[in-house]
Amino acid sequence: MEKKELMYEGKAKKVFSTEDPSLYIQSFKDDATAFNAKKKGTIQNKGIVNNKISSILFQLVEKKGIPTHFVKQLNDRDMLVKKLEIIKVEVTIRNVVAGGMAKMLGLEEGIVLDSPVFEYHYKHDALDDPLINDYHAIAINLATKEELAYIEKTAFTINAMLKDFFAGLGIDLIDFKLEFGRYGDEILLGDEISPDTCRFWEKGTNRKLDKDRFRRDLGGIEETYQEMLAKVTSGAV
Ligand code: TMP
Repeated sequence: MEKKELMYEGKAKKVFSTEDPSLYIQSFKDDATAFNAKKKGTIQNKGIVNNKISSILFQLVEKKGIPTHFVKQLNDRDMLVKKLEIIKVEVTIRNVVAGGMAKMLGLEEGIVLDSPVFEYHYKHDALDDPLINDYHAIAINLATKEELAYIEKTAFTINAMLKDFFAGLGIDLIDFKLEFGRYGDEILLGDEISPDTCRFWEKGTNRKLDKDRFRRDLGGIEETYQEMLAKVTSGAV
């Protein structure tokens, strides 16, 4: 499958049309941004790492019976996906306090939550993706009540599954972000699942193995992405 036309360029990926109107190619870039692109940089080979990790994790999710937009990995940076109508909510699940939740509630990072926290953020760059609830999402027509019910149930299933998978690799899944989209009358998991969109802490040491190394200038960024690629690849066999 060949790329036809650039349809959309995001912060970390480009999306191309193909000769099949129902399929797109998403191409993973090395560009890294944080804080809604107020911080910009490059992480060498990040696109290759995130494409491979996402491909493995989407296949894992599919194996659990959850449909995703993943069709196949085409090459180092390109993934063939089903063309979605993206639902404009970012779905976050948190198992441990970090990042935005620590800031919003004045809590120390690292507190293990008694039960996972589920959040919606309105996908709206000019507003910095504000936290919303299901009432907002329904009232401003981002999604229906039924769609949100499916998204919530599915996100919790994915959390349980990913927590297990990463525990087997000696990694705590702290939090992560998902996006969903419409494909005919189905809702599919879209976007990516990668160190850009998850927080991973090494068990025992809490060493950060994700994009927080870039956000917070912790160093060893490229090496850490490669380390995650090696770990996820080893866990997938
Ligand atoms: P947060 O603590 O900054 O809200 O982030 C929660 C999780 O969501 C974290 O794993 C990183 C991910 N995330 C994204 O994928 N994209 C974003 O734009 C933001 C803010 C967070």
